[in-house]
Amino acid sequence: MRIQIMAGNWKMHKTVAEAAKLARSIKKMEGVEVVLCPPFTAISSVSNAVADSGVKVGAQNMYWEEKGAFTGEISPVMLKEFCQYVILGHSERRQYFGETNETVNKKALTAFKHGLIPIICCGESLEQNEAGETVEFVGGQIHGALADMTADQASKVVIAYEPIWAIGTGKSAKPEAVNDIIRKSIRDVIADMFDESVAQAVRVQYGGSVKPDNVVAFMGQSEIDGALVGGASLKPELFMPLVEAAAKS
Ligand code: PGA
Repeated sequence: MRIQIMAGNWKMHKTVAEAAKLARSIKKMEGVEVVLCPPFTAISSVSNAVADSGVKVGAQNMYWEEKGAFTGEISPVMLKEFCQYVILGHSERRQYFGETNETVNKKALTAFKHGLIPIICCGESLEQNEAGETVEFVGGQIHGALADMTADQASKVVIAYEPIWAIGTGKSAKPEAVNDIIRKSIRDVIADMFDESVAQAVRVQYGGSVKPDNVVAFMGQSEIDGALVGGASLKPELFMPLVEAAAKS
């Protein structure tokens, strides 16, 4: 049995005060893990705001070294004071900041070393989707990101499957198609790399324009174990119905 995980990726939004207010309005529900991923400056205040609530905190990125002369970077040692999770390889980081499967892999291995669980993002572009390359492309991302992990580490990974064309566009993917892609390009690849029990243990979120009016259809799919939510995670009246839907599924 995989526990659902509903994560809010706040991206580059919210000041410290705004973030703490939003965090206090989010509640954990039975049967679903709730993770808030604020920008770095607000991580400490969000961590305080959710203390004792059962809501967990994640970062949106991380460097793979523990400390040193790496101007502008944040290390896993710094994050683990506040966070349980870290999002790695979001498509925006791949597109604008040069993230690759190799850097995602290095970061994921370091995250485990420091007790952080990586939420590893993958997903194809519209061109790749239309060319029928989704399964091969996403499978390659998974293969690269999970390289050199132990079976125990791999089984703890959270994967967020986010087709790039569905992120922030209001055009979500079809839930049945997502279910099929997750099976073929994520669970089958993990089963090949490790074994079927690891493939069945990994939690896979869908991400891309998840909203209260489409969440139930996604949560009803056998391979989907939650969602990584951008826009709708910035408003409690939109995010809490998503948590409720995951709790009921
Ligand atoms: P969206 O973003 O929910 O605004 O589409 C999802 C994401 O980027 O994780």
